[in-house]
Amino acid sequence: MASNRWLRRAAPALLLGLLLAGCETEGPRSTLEVVGPVAQAQRDLFMWTYWLSWPVVLLVVGVIAYVLWKFRVREGDETIPHQTHGNAVLEIGWTILPVLIVIAVAVPTVRTIFTTENRVEATPDDLIVNVTGYQWWWRFEYPQYGVVTANELRVPQGTRLILDLNSADVLHSFWVPKLAGKRDLIPNQDNQLWIDIPEDAPLGAYLGHCAELCLGAHAYMRFRVIVEDRDSFGAWVEAFQDPVSQPQQLADATEQVQRGYALFAQKGCTNCHTVDEYRTGLTVGDPDFPDLTNFGLRTTIAAAVLPNTQENLERWLRDPQAVKPTNYMPTLWPLPDQVSEERNQEIQEEVAAIAAYLLSLGIDSNAQQPDDIVIIGGANGDR
Ligand code: CUA
Repeated sequence: MASNRWLRRAAPALLLGLLLAGCETEGPRSTLEVVGPVAQAQRDLFMWTYWLSWPVVLLVVGVIAYVLWKFRVREGDETIPHQTHGNAVLEIGWTILPVLIVIAVAVPTVRTIFTTENRVEATPDDLIVNVTGYQWWWRFEYPQYGVVTANELRVPQGTRLILDLNSADVLHSFWVPKLAGKRDLIPNQDNQLWIDIPEDAPLGAYLGHCAELCLGAHAYMRFRVIVEDRDSFGAWVEAFQDPVSQPQQLADATEQVQRGYALFAQKGCTNCHTVDEYRTGLTVGDPDFPDLTNFGLRTTIAAAVLPNTQENLERWLRDPQAVKPTNYMPTLWPLPDQVSEERNQEIQEEVAAIAAYLLSLGIDSNAQQPDDIVIIGGANGDR
């Protein structure tokens, strides 16, 4: 009996504690620990309205608590409280005060909107990226460099990044919580988002998400903005532009990679996916599917769902629906429970060969591994 009463009294505090336990100011998707002036301005605006709301909360809750206590029913007291009507001072007060609060919120809000949301004209110093949202991945095209890639947006420190946003199908929303607020990708409408990447921005991967419900695999429509120093970014661009710097000659490749190259065409991968023609001779593919040029340089697969390793790539190729339900990647072989163990072993070898071929694209012997990359605000392995 006694413990029941205790539980009832403690329940609200326990509930509040549990709710607060879900709060976190840090982490790879924190909008409170941010990088760069755009996210900083948005964070400052949030903090200003947050602190401004505290006196309002304290005043309202305080008045309610005082009145409830002061005018509580007393035992044996049957009299009706003193009745009043109209009070000019109070009425003017509670008209003016909210107006002042609205002004205090509106002025910095409008100012922040005008500084961060305005459309800017690109200069030659800016990095322009055309972003196209697809169900459920991202196409990143760098028109200044002739680079087309997917799901990983590389950018050097000290750059103004200008993103031209569009969608190939339904509404999506581009969101890298640590760098800037969300912006929608709308079919047939050119939206723009610009982000200042400071000279001293921490090097590593900033996690991004589609923030507009786009059906199916929406929750798996992730991406990364990878901030690099200028040399690394230059080397990355060069890997796309200069076939001589990446002599991934098939003659030098391992037998497994050569087999994977052949299977990549035989299994029909080239019907959808382009791989840079300089090294492989493959020019076919459909621009409406992820371009796999220099695929080995990517740190993740399936729109940042898994780290890009041989093991994960095999998992993805063998049964894409198990990794990312509803995605449009076809299942290229009968599933393990539909074939004999012997046949399954053969299939697994084909899968491993294609994975090895894909991982060899753009990779030299000392390339970084997916686990080497720093996740800003998080642990390696976060996605
Ligand atoms: Cu794209 Cu949600």
